[in-house]
Amino acid sequence: MKIAVLPGDGIGPEIVAQAVKVMNVLKSEGMKIETEEALLGGCAVEAAKDPFPEATQKLVKAADAVLLGAVGGPQWDTNPRELRPERGLLRIRKDLGLFANLRPAILYPELVSASTLKPEVVAGLDILIVRELTGDIYFGQPRGIEIRNGERYGFNTMHYSESEIRRILHVAFGAARKRNRKVCSVDKMNVLECTQLWHDVADEVAKEYPDVQLTHMLVDNAAMQLVKNPKQFDVMVTGNMFGDILSDEASMLTGSIGMLPSASLDQNNKGLYEPSHGSAPDIAGKDLANPLATILSAAMMLRYTFADEANASRIENAVRKVLQQGIRTGDIYEAGMKKVSCTAMGDAVVAMM
Ligand code: IPM
Ligand code: MG
Repeated sequence: MKIAVLPGDGIGPEIVAQAVKVMNVLKSEGMKIETEEALLGGCAVEAAKDPFPEATQKLVKAADAVLLGAVGGPQWDTNPRELRPERGLLRIRKDLGLFANLRPAILYPELVSASTLKPEVVAGLDILIVRELTGDIYFGQPRGIEIRNGERYGFNTMHYSESEIRRILHVAFGAARKRNRKVCSVDKMNVLECTQLWHDVADEVAKEYPDVQLTHMLVDNAAMQLVKNPKQFDVMVTGNMFGDILSDEASMLTGSIGMLPSASLDQNNKGLYEPSHGSAPDIAGKDLANPLATILSAAMMLRYTFADEANASRIENAVRKVLQQGIRTGDIYEAGMKKVSCTAMGDAVVAMM
């Protein structure tokens, strides 16, 4: 198993180190794991004047999977677009063809009171957001800011081909078969033609999955339903832009974005695994960050890329037991619990394994 490790910026290096510790447990038991580090994001801009430098491109192409921390920070926000950390992330997704972004939003029973919603609304929440990741307005041409009729004019293009829609719908239906067999496809077909096509293709693909129930929802309503009655959802599937927004919303239902992993997969289950949260520059370098989302991302890597369900669940169970013991990083701390550092949280998971 060749794993490219990209710690990135901010808290990235601290949280990735904990996930690597967890992988090293498996390595010490005889699993053949090779890890190699490279730069992505702001650190790569500093070192190589490129957020996704050639050495990193080579490494990730040769690897079976990529483990990523987080990229970005305020010091790069005014850089030209090509030299921003986020650009590195978008390029790695596109270059590796990682079109399927899986973002689970699971509420751990121990963390029910971390949510800003009432316990009865969120208890038992388990949603999987399937976000298309290499198309849509994110990558559409033409795009830009130019002068037209004597004033500045900004424009982007939303587009999807039928085949791009079809393949992500297949991922969603496939995932639903392993869960509660419900897919909600989110679009804005009352206004946007591009998403009318999305809607129509979803209906076509659904015919191949008679055992899975397909519903459609407009994105504005979906945003509302997510806070009103989130437990109505099993799998939600949507395009890149809507998925970006809805997945942040869904993650906060759990009250703890520091807990949520993600997987971005290509056609052959090669994947990039990263926590759903950002680089948290305010707490970087202080050993305060919650490494659990990154550790759970490593579990997703074992499940999806290496088809090792046993060790994936073993890591997830270790995380649950650590929570049951009241061990908490600052972001999920409540009175009466034991507050620990990022490193100590990693150690606790390792010990529990
Ligand atoms: C995400 C992030 C990225 C995105 C940014 C950092 C480019 O918000 O992974 O959701 O918009 O896809
Ligand atoms: Mg986002």
